[in-house]
Amino acid sequence: MTAFVSRACLLALTIAAAQAQNHSKPALDYAFFRDRVEPILLEKRPGHARCVTCHEHGSPPLQPLEAGATRWNEEQSRRNFAIWKLFAVPGEPEKSPLLLHPLAREAGGDSFHAGGKHWQSKNDPEWRILAAWVRGETMAGATRTAMRVLQTNAAGDNVHVIDPATNRVVGVIEDIEVPHGAAIAPDGARIYITDEARRTLDVVDARTLQVFERIPLSGRPNNLDVAKDGSKVYVGIRQAPGAVDVIDARSLKNVKSVRVKGEIHNVYVTPDGRYAVAGSIAASTISVIDTSSDTLAWTLTLDAGIRPMAFTRNGNGSTKEIIVQLSNFHGFAAVDFATRKVVRRITLPDVEGQERETQGLQGSPSHGLAITPDGKMLWATSKYYDCVVAYSLPDYRLIKVIPVGLHPEWLTIPPDGRQLYVAVAGDDATAVVDLRKMEMVQKIPVGAVPKRNTSGMLMTTSSN
Ligand code: HEC
Repeated sequence: MTAFVSRACLLALTIAAAQAQNHSKPALDYAFFRDRVEPILLEKRPGHARCVTCHEHGSPPLQPLEAGATRWNEEQSRRNFAIWKLFAVPGEPEKSPLLLHPLAREAGGDSFHAGGKHWQSKNDPEWRILAAWVRGETMAGATRTAMRVLQTNAAGDNVHVIDPATNRVVGVIEDIEVPHGAAIAPDGARIYITDEARRTLDVVDARTLQVFERIPLSGRPNNLDVAKDGSKVYVGIRQAPGAVDVIDARSLKNVKSVRVKGEIHNVYVTPDGRYAVAGSIAASTISVIDTSSDTLAWTLTLDAGIRPMAFTRNGNGSTKEIIVQLSNFHGFAAVDFATRKVVRRITLPDVEGQERETQGLQGSPSHGLAITPDGKMLWATSKYYDCVVAYSLPDYRLIKVIPVGLHPEWLTIPPDGRQLYVAVAGDDATAVVDLRKMEMVQKIPVGAVPKRNTSGMLMTTSSN
């Protein structure tokens, strides 16, 4: 090891000398190193040891992680930065040992690295992040965002990422067995996914699509949502006695488990951000949590299990109605948020000449709702008739029935309001309905039994 240390030090000196000679080279950004480069040094790549495992004992040295920690603290990150920037030649990724040592020789990398070859080509998303850092990219410059649809696969172990501009799959988030729901942080930097097998909230870097943290929950989770300011994540716990876990998005710690009525299936933050509304199938109860204190504000028990919900708004943005689907009901009810009373119940139309699908309904013939961003149209799915049904708002007039395929489940409409994405569970596909033409235009193959989906702006690299 001694010989190796001195060789590394020599090299660092040579690079420092090269850096000193050229003043026009870009400065290396500390925040970019901490937020984008360090996760790569911590990442477990299949078939490879992690950079940190060796380098916390070797040279160039990485700070040893504290017991139980999965990331470095600020002081450690600064030390890592001070040393590792010596293995980068600013402005020149192709001369930087940090990029060349773990890169395959055939791709232009060094001939040998005792730590192995982690990247097969310069197109590897991780290699490109390192190259961006070496070229002087800052966090401000790294925030290219693009609209994305996320499709979880309920019988699979992955989540598909779809670009609504092309309706192609542009990435897959792997290694989450039975991913229940997905939610996007408001700044687009992270994706939160509930992991039923591990009973964790998995946190994914939007740019690398890699899980970088798995946060233990108080029980097996179902769906989740993020606070409008991004500070917290609310996770529904589907295990008795039932709870909503509150995850602090900065510390990535499970800070509170709010007791509610019954095991929780879905939880939604209202459009105005003031409440987290959780629904229980077993207790037929809606529990409304005040997000300023994370305490239970009120509950409402209905006559059947609470399934997916959606929210209409008043002129000032506050919540007007909770639209709610109920167990064994082919339709939905609307609850007035102020009076806490059911004000209407709408049954979806029967499709003439078509027999009802009866297999695998899971007590929920209609299980998916979405409202267009302009608030003027409500969509619901029908598993009885393999279709989606549109109603106008606020008058709930039936507009259209569109067949989409076997067992349509969850729905999402990206923020531009142009297309509706339908998880077609029985076809292992996500159907796309054009909201101007009002017809299905495409079916995108995804994973096994797609269910929950969501959409929003995500930070991307040019590869995803
Ligand atoms: C199995 C242990 C191991 C792993 C894993 C490992 N390294 Fe190394 N690394 C070494 C050893 C040992 C050396 C010194 C011998 C050599 O240069 O190959 C080294 C050297 C280096 C150097 C110094 C290059 C130079 O020119 O002196 C860099 C930079 C480096 N590694 C980066 C990485 C990165 C980045 C990763 C993860 C992608 C990584 N290493 C993973 C063991 C490891």
